[in-house]
Amino acid sequence: MTPGDTVTVEAIVAEFAADRSRLLDIVETVQSRYGYVSDAAVQVIAAGLRIHSVEVEDMLSFYAFFDRHPRGRVRIRLSKTPISIMKGATDVAHAFEAALGIDMGEDTPDGAFTLQWTSDIGMADQEPAALVNGMVLTAIKPGDVPTIVAALRQHDFQQSHGQPIPNAGVKSSLVQAGPLLSGPSAAGESLIAALALTPDQVIEVISASKLRGRGGAGFPTGTKWRLTRKSKGQNHYVACNADEGEPGTFKDRVLLSEFPHLVFDGMTIAGYALGARHGLVYLRGEYAYLWDALQAALKTRRRQGLLGSNVCGHVGFDFDIRIQLGAGAYICGEESSMIESLEGKRGAPRDRPPFPTERGYLQQPTAVDNVETYVCAARIMAMGAAWFRGYGTAASSGTKLMGVSGDCERPGVYEVPFGITVNELLDLTGGADAAYVQVSGPSGQSVAPKDFGRRIAYEDLSTGGSTMVFGPQRDVLAVALQFAEFFVDESCGWCVPCRVGTTLLRQGMEKIVVGRATLADIMATETLANTVVRMSRCGLGQTAPNPILTTMRSFPELYEARMQSGSFVPRVTLSEALADAVQVQGRQPVAEDI
Ligand SMILES: Cc1cc2nc3c(=O)[nH]c(=O)nc-3n(C[C@H](O)[C@H](O)[C@H](O)COP(=O)(O)O)c2cc1C
Ligand code: SF4
Repeated sequence: MTPGDTVTVEAIVAEFAADRSRLLDIVETVQSRYGYVSDAAVQVIAAGLRIHSVEVEDMLSFYAFFDRHPRGRVRIRLSKTPISIMKGATDVAHAFEAALGIDMGEDTPDGAFTLQWTSDIGMADQEPAALVNGMVLTAIKPGDVPTIVAALRQHDFQQSHGQPIPNAGVKSSLVQAGPLLSGPSAAGESLIAALALTPDQVIEVISASKLRGRGGAGFPTGTKWRLTRKSKGQNHYVACNADEGEPGTFKDRVLLSEFPHLVFDGMTIAGYALGARHGLVYLRGEYAYLWDALQAALKTRRRQGLLGSNVCGHVGFDFDIRIQLGAGAYICGEESSMIESLEGKRGAPRDRPPFPTERGYLQQPTAVDNVETYVCAARIMAMGAAWFRGYGTAASSGTKLMGVSGDCERPGVYEVPFGITVNELLDLTGGADAAYVQVSGPSGQSVAPKDFGRRIAYEDLSTGGSTMVFGPQRDVLAVALQFAEFFVDESCGWCVPCRVGTTLLRQGMEKIVVGRATLADIMATETLANTVVRMSRCGLGQTAPNPILTTMRSFPELYEARMQSGSFVPRVTLSEALADAVQVQGRQPVAEDI
């Protein structure tokens, strides 16, 4: 590093006021300036923040988007998910390999390109898709690749951004808007309605609406806000979980790109209700392309008095929002990991209790809610609790945004009332041939046709919104294996049951998929899966075995058919062998299961 570079890195540290909690931003800025974070830069950052360099190293090593050594100037990250693979991502990868003369994971010798796989980038309805230095390419066909590479080469050499890159851009994914998204939603409208009430009354309205968190777990939002408001602290914080890392989920991307003011209205309403002055949006690194538009929306709100001092003229209510960009780690969607990441640390989950409502960001009371939850809160304030309860079921009020992808004619985001059956959703999206539906992503449930009458609702199939549809031509067990691989890549490695267990589960599934597993092997895989569920420290490990356990329960015949031939004649049926799994999953089998 030259003396000039040292000055530059020192200036970057100073730009963030040498604040330790902004380490993630500092490293992100250095990475984007130099393409990697050198040993020398680590030393300069550590000195500027007055921390040991090991702390910087520790943080850096955690995130997929940081490099310690120079890589290609043009970084092609191709999305690898069961959906992208079935839409042709493998052929697209081969086309890139041929055009660049390198294999996946390699750099071109001239230092121009790096080609690699990455986890789901939130484009399941527009696969095969890729991130190229933060820009998104969608619906890539192998035949497009030579032109894409030529255009990228020209950009790299000329440092010019004049020529359009083929396939660049994200089309709107919203196919069906319902009451939540089709009503009037002028910036600040719902906020003004909320400010006419007291903070306690706002929380009462949210509770009366029976709104439950849209991130998947379904915790009552009014209760969360009340607990946070009641907790003692110097500051209270509002955090918006925009990590959206669950493969197959892309509805928060739609809300952030098409309804940012509803999201920010909802956060500001929460700020008022909680007595908070600061809001934080944790935006996944894969959505960096939304950064400028979101910052512009915040700027407009400040100009309109919807953020800043005395919001909307309400004397004494000061509130502003900061966006924190993530750096490629699925675990950072888990709320306590997200808070660690917001504080500029590696995103390792915290022990709970205490819950974030009591001690969250900077150890202060923090409400963490999903993007869609804030949108619902905003609309409830404008339209009333009874209006919201008028949709959905008794235990799941309102509507839900579902991101539907895979083997269906009309993939995209659909706003549907809670209580809709899987069958009805398939009819809506043109997925009549479905032979298997994965609800709520890899950590959710595998649903077989005999269960397509089940309902999308917290009391039946609860979901964050991911719905992946697979036709009869797909190999269900191969999909379960790909999900098992996803969890191996995404385990944070902190606890043994998850770190080692996910690897062993993948090995077990590999053996099953290639037809080398005996009944004993399958049963051992099931036992291990249950152990990982029980012993893992956080939600990631506790749900990582779900693709295996729920496909075993929904498709026992497929496992039996794939068993090594001639090994021995089983004396128990697979369904009997899986009784434990059913118990751990906490759902009684339906008659046809056994
Ligand atoms: C591994 C893991 C990943 C998660 N990812 C997300 C996510 O991307 N977005 C989200 O809103 N919630 C995610 N959650 C759930 C959050 O921990 C938390 O429950 C949620 O943000 C609360 O908001 P809500 O009450 O509005 O749903 C994840 C949980 C786990 C265990
Ligand atoms: S369960 Fe997995 S992700 Fe969670 S703490 Fe353990 S290793 Fe990390």
